[in-house]
Amino acid sequence: MDYFKVSKADGLNGIVKISGAKNASLPLIAMTLLAKNSVTINNLPEVVDIKTLLKLLENLGAKTVLKNGSATIDTSSVNDTKATYDIVKTMRASILVLGPLLARFGRCEVSLPGGCAIGQRPIDLHLKALEQMGATITIESGYVRAEAPDGLVGTHIVFDKVTVTGSANIITAASLARGKTIITNAAREPEVVQLCEILRLSGVSIDGIGTAELTIYGTDRRLLCIEPFEIIPDRIEAGTYLCAAAISRSKITLKKVRADHLESVLSKLMQMGIKIEHDSDTITIYPSKSLNPVDIITQEYPGFPTDMQAQFMALCTQADGVSTIEERLFENRFMHVSELQRLGAKITLKGNSATIEGSCQLHGCDVMATDLRASSALVIAALVASGQTDIHRIYHLERGYERLVEKFKNIGANIERLKE
Ligand code: UD1
Repeated sequence: MDYFKVSKADGLNGIVKISGAKNASLPLIAMTLLAKNSVTINNLPEVVDIKTLLKLLENLGAKTVLKNGSATIDTSSVNDTKATYDIVKTMRASILVLGPLLARFGRCEVSLPGGCAIGQRPIDLHLKALEQMGATITIESGYVRAEAPDGLVGTHIVFDKVTVTGSANIITAASLARGKTIITNAAREPEVVQLCEILRLSGVSIDGIGTAELTIYGTDRRLLCIEPFEIIPDRIEAGTYLCAAAISRSKITLKKVRADHLESVLSKLMQMGIKIEHDSDTITIYPSKSLNPVDIITQEYPGFPTDMQAQFMALCTQADGVSTIEERLFENRFMHVSELQRLGAKITLKGNSATIEGSCQLHGCDVMATDLRASSALVIAALVASGQTDIHRIYHLERGYERLVEKFKNIGANIERLKE
């Protein structure tokens, strides 16, 4: 297994081109199951999660080609509707094929995704909503078996909690359903907004895009003609590089980024005393001598993203005072705490709240990546830790960060990928 060797950097400097958003790509790839044509998707990040979902579609009979960040996906040859455990177990987001498969074929089987390092992550809300749309759902031998032989029927869904992949599943299902579906308490994440926009451009009438109440007028199983489109920039990748610059007191510029998708993140960085300038597709962050402590509560978009929590925790170890982070979305998303503590961070945990005492000197040592975003927090901390930090289990990072080593090296970080 490979690991990263990171040594303290004297400061970063330069430009980082932000990749397409993994979390926008996944529902949009699953959406191609609704198309009658071969679909071209541009600006896809070539990360493991994307390859996994393409492989899942291929296993169902689709033809896919991924080259230089563009994929063509032809689902007209799909002849199987079973998403098997061997793939779903490696990526929870495989559940995104449930809505499109059921809507198009009237039946499907998808392996239950199970829990993961950051919590239980149930899919009860996805299933309840599909049942309301007329599906019969049974769970047997670890599989969700869904059937709606006469097609799904539009209805009013009220989500008890805001769920990102749950919203995506019901939006895609509703697109081919008969009649009108209203989704109340829908996720408003930019990734969900892009899914709605592409569906609208493909002929599905959707009202309320970007709000918590969506109205979707289904095509009654008429397949869509989807024109080529480009994935929006990855706001979490962008936020990660901003934290890396902030902790190492550096000036870097992000290109191909959407500042309007990062408002809560930029606002926290500015509260910390960091100067940031941006225009429509560029963000520049400037070095700050001191860092103010902050209080963070993770929330659904447009609140502070849970996917940026670990990176900010690393940053808060260098703030001049006590910061707090309350994790409201996932019950177990503090696995990075013990690894940051190994580096010397002073963090105390109580329930879903962490208190981070800054500023403290971090010292390089061996640490272990525990989930995707937790892993990037370790890279960020390692940039200012004295000596050398070896980060193991980096396969977590490769699920979601495109060319991370190359991008960090380009801005002057001392990072190598080595064999154990
Ligand atoms: C998505 C993102 C992930 C991000 C998360 C929250 C993708 C591929 N992943 O994950 O990076 O951290 O949103 O922004 O886009 N819940 C239920 N029942 C359900 C569904 C969800 O109780 O049926 C709960 C979850 O346990 C969690 C909360 O709702 O507490 C939000 O989860 P959800 O938005 O569904 O997360 P994902 O879509 O899995």
